[in-house]
Amino acid sequence: MNNISSDYPAFLANPEKQIFIDGQWVAPLEGGFIPTHNPATGEVLAQLARGRAADVDRAVISARRAFEGPWSRFTPAQRQQVIMRFVELLERHYEELTMLESLDMGAPLHGRLRPAKGGFVQTLLYYASQARSIHGETIPNSLPGNVTTLILKAPVGVVGGIIPWNAPLFGQFNVIGPVLATGCTAVLKPAEDASLSVLRTAELLVEAGVPPGVVNVVTGLGSEAGAALAAHRDVNRVAFTGSTATGREIIKASAGNIKRLQLELGGKSPDIVFADADLERAVPGVAMGVYSNSGQICFAGTRVFVQRSIYEQFIDGLAAYGRSLKVGDPLAVGTQLGPLISQRQLDQVLGYVAKGPQEGAALVSGGKRLGGPLAGGYFVEPTVFGNVTNTMTIAREEIFGPVASVIPFDTADEALTLANATDYGLGSGVWSSNLGTVMKMVHGIQAGTVWVNCYGLLDPAVGFGGWKQSGYGWKGGTAQIEGYLAQKAAYIA
Ligand code: NAI
Ligand code: MG
Repeated sequence: MNNISSDYPAFLANPEKQIFIDGQWVAPLEGGFIPTHNPATGEVLAQLARGRAADVDRAVISARRAFEGPWSRFTPAQRQQVIMRFVELLERHYEELTMLESLDMGAPLHGRLRPAKGGFVQTLLYYASQARSIHGETIPNSLPGNVTTLILKAPVGVVGGIIPWNAPLFGQFNVIGPVLATGCTAVLKPAEDASLSVLRTAELLVEAGVPPGVVNVVTGLGSEAGAALAAHRDVNRVAFTGSTATGREIIKASAGNIKRLQLELGGKSPDIVFADADLERAVPGVAMGVYSNSGQICFAGTRVFVQRSIYEQFIDGLAAYGRSLKVGDPLAVGTQLGPLISQRQLDQVLGYVAKGPQEGAALVSGGKRLGGPLAGGYFVEPTVFGNVTNTMTIAREEIFGPVASVIPFDTADEALTLANATDYGLGSGVWSSNLGTVMKMVHGIQAGTVWVNCYGLLDPAVGFGGWKQSGYGWKGGTAQIEGYLAQKAAYIA
């Protein structure tokens, strides 16, 4: 591994991290820490405070107080300005934040995190613009007499944000952005595997002028801090990104006080390649649709449907592309793929890789953990399975690793039927130069997003969300902002 001492984040000088409530670092009431690892080496990176229900309660009280306090008197322009000031701080601290993120969850620093700066800034600027765009309506009524009817909008209140480990630095802004734009407040519960960038961001938000208590962070286990936040009686809305199984728990926990929910859950997204596609673009596009972030992306296009006449050629191209990717030290220049997040995730991925051939799939390339200088980390080769059918386990379940399952098809109708034969409906891709084929797929695929001759593009004004068991509630766009607003009708006689 590199010598990183020169720019090792100052935030890790004290590796025992506390929780962040009301603008202060505080110890959890019951004490205790959980270790967070550097997945590239397996070494302990820092200790996270093990927050529990009492800490979540304290954080929610702080968020409620802030919601009713000075923050409620911020004008839209002031909320916009505070986001803009935060953008300046984010840009100034971008190297530090991305270094923390890379150390904590293994994404390539130069190959992934640093080039994403423009996207981070644009996302936050979108939310800054939303702060000035919220408005109600006057609706003409048909009542007798002289009655004016208005629809008013108000921030919904305290929002619980439960954040996964696969991209916490970016993912948190899908909660913080709409919270700040609308005048809500938040308690964030980052994942126990990667909480550091979220903790550091909370501090920077206060520095930017966000009042203490508007964004609180309680680290801890999902089953403790996470479950307490999902069940809390004074939390009005929960935004959750993670597994479908945990999403089901959150739905149950929301029943106590009828919380509003936005759930972005698992996926097994189809990526469909027709024989008339431009393969020069489709091969790398499909490959990175699977392998980006080492496959740890909810919308990864892991069910690759390829028209039979180009099936062999395409599989060869995909395998060659995977072999060309530089997997290794996330901090090294030139690294394209880093490790998986944890031993548990490694075991899960290798378990699926073993299951493929047992059910009749052919391992075309990859499939092994990397050793040598990478033996301490959780690195897996980009993997391609051929001869896959849609009913095999590797084609049905979310692997969350760099594993492509390639399935042949003959006609567009067959591709559509196979693509939709899944419990999930998050992303999808179509590669074709025929407009009729493209439109048939765009209309027919049952998923929240269809990417055509591209994969994984996201714009905050457009947004993103799931169908079926991939969740509900839109992330981004005006639909997301509406979710952070309560609507009130006024009849004025
Ligand atoms: P998870 O869904 O359990 O964890 C996501 C977040 O939820 C974490 O912050 C966790 O602490 C919290 N959490 C866990 N249990 C909770 C509960 N009962 N109540 C409230 N919060 C809770 O996912 P995990 O265990 O990290 O990964 C397992 C699998 O989930 C992965 O292998 C992958 O397939 C999938 N996953 C999908 C993600 C996506 O973006 N769609 C992100 C992370 C995981
Ligand atoms: Mg970690």
